[in-house]
Amino acid sequence: MVTVQQLNTRFGINGQLGFREDAPVKGTPPDTRPASGLGAASGLTIAEINNPQATASLCLQGAHLMAWQPRSQPAPVVWLSRDAKLTAGKSIRGGVPVCWPWFGAHASEPGFSAHGFARTAPWRVIESGTEPNGATRLTLRLMENEKTRTQWPHDSRLELTVIVGETLRMELTTENTGESDFIISEALHTYFKISDIGAVQVTGLAGCDYWDKVGISTLKKQDGIIRFAGETDRVYINSATECVIEDDGLKRRIRVAKSGSLTTVVWTPWTAKAEKMGDLGQPDGWREMLCVESANAIDNAVKIAAGTKHTLIVECRAESL
Ligand code: BG6
Repeated sequence: MVTVQQLNTRFGINGQLGFREDAPVKGTPPDTRPASGLGAASGLTIAEINNPQATASLCLQGAHLMAWQPRSQPAPVVWLSRDAKLTAGKSIRGGVPVCWPWFGAHASEPGFSAHGFARTAPWRVIESGTEPNGATRLTLRLMENEKTRTQWPHDSRLELTVIVGETLRMELTTENTGESDFIISEALHTYFKISDIGAVQVTGLAGCDYWDKVGISTLKKQDGIIRFAGETDRVYINSATECVIEDDGLKRRIRVAKSGSLTTVVWTPWTAKAEKMGDLGQPDGWREMLCVESANAIDNAVKIAAGTKHTLIVECRAESL
């Protein structure tokens, strides 16, 4: 087990990247915890990035980015639920869960967790650095364990590189280190902070086919801009282009550009589902988030031949209107 001190010595970057343990502050009553609600003592390790361009934090469990705010923006761009909890072995509500090696429910094993095990497994830091433009880079590798091997008996290596600056870039690389091909589905499940679900629209998916997952899964075609008036859970297939969230309330545009990804998922739970989920910041925290996820799922699952790699890249940017 690598200690926080060892991580700081090996990968810390003076004043820009540090690691800390999520521990309770002595004598701090629960009602004075930070607004994120993340003050409990999970013992999990968090990387904190604070550079001239942006701030971000990432939990090593799940390689789960929890926050990103460029300095040019008065509000966070990545959303974290105020009811989010840090718990060993459990996913964090909000941020950017890494869904891998399957997206959604497992194809044949209902007992396996939705969206795969990568988002709750421990990851190891393998590299850090500063980019020529001043952004901070951090690379993590998934550590396999007995549980992951029973659910994914393939020789593979999964790495996530996060580059935090005025732009947020994430690169998820799957390497097939074995001797037979395998198929994955995956997503960088980005939760974005918005003013209100009624005040935003998404462009970039007009004319795309999508699986509408509300009710019985049905294939439909997107007609024009996406606006929200109820539960929306759509898996757009063969969609490789940039998506834009236009937010009239926060007077900003969030651009989500990608490569190595042919699927885009657009999700908002709406009232009844949010209430059932219970960790979205009751009563109406769900209205302040929207997921536009860069994925490879359903028709776009990826076959990775033995000895080859596949990388999904997402770049997010916020512009004031
Ligand atoms: C989205 C799915 O990607 O994730 C939704 O399309 C799902 O169907 C949502 O409800 C949240 O999933 P989870 O497992 O994090 O609660």
